[in-house]
Amino acid sequence: MTSDLIIENLDVHYGGVRALTNLTVTVRAGTCTTLLGANGAGKTSALRGIGGLIRASGTVTLGGRRLDGKSAARRAGAGLGHVLEGRHVFPGLTVAENIAVARRRAPRETRRDPLELLPELRSHLDRPAGGLSGGQQQMLAIARAIAGGPRAVMLDEPTNGLSPKLVARTIEIIAELRDLGYAVLLVEQRLEVAQELGSDVVVLRHGETAHRGSGTDPALPDLLHSMYLS
Ligand SMILES: Nc1ncnc2c1ncn2[C@@H]1O[C@H](COP(=O)(O)OP(=O)(O)OP(=O)(O)O)[C@@H](O)[C@H]1O
Ligand SMILES: [Mg+2]
Repeated sequence: MTSDLIIENLDVHYGGVRALTNLTVTVRAGTCTTLLGANGAGKTSALRGIGGLIRASGTVTLGGRRLDGKSAARRAGAGLGHVLEGRHVFPGLTVAENIAVARRRAPRETRRDPLELLPELRSHLDRPAGGLSGGQQQMLAIARAIAGGPRAVMLDEPTNGLSPKLVARTIEIIAELRDLGYAVLLVEQRLEVAQELGSDVVVLRHGETAHRGSGTDPALPDLLHSMYLS
């Protein structure tokens, strides 16, 4: 069974404001694609539209199953993992409880222990999530997505605000997720992350797809620089 994530012609509007226009991306199982773009380019809107957290038109297909039109919970249940922008964890629950809540509805066939991937959380299992550092909360947010038994994982700026060491660790974790066979759709502002992952990139500008190619394309830094400044 393949679990490619295929997004076609996705549009997102907020009232009369268009945040994303006609996004088409295929993320094969075991590969990573990075959505790049400046503040307000439409990256989060894309992930929220794919995840069913906001209304969007277009199609979302995961492992051959159409998810568009389904609720966010149904999409998650079908294997779409989502690490939201800004580390969403339950601050009053312990690390172990946060993971247990996320694991509740994981399908048996995709169930996986997130602590194998994130052993650094083991020593914090009894701590309230609200007391963790920002980096630890980001790891927990990723652990929660894995605990849900996904086939594809979307991550929204997981390196935001982290120290260089934790940025490197986050990149390592994303590479592991990819190599385990998940389809990974990453949102980033930093090109270095896509470069280190050797990821494909889709560059958004004012909600439109301005460029697509390889993250390691030597022309990309200049292109992004001119786009982010214009
Ligand atoms: N809830 C909302 N209501 C109205 N407009 C919104 C809403 N959320 C986002 N927008 C607008 O949609 C556009 C895209 O925003 P989005 O958050 O998707 O960008 P982004 O690329 O994720 O930016 P950032 O890098 O700052 O996270 C922006 O013009 C933003 O102002
Ligand atoms: Mg965003």
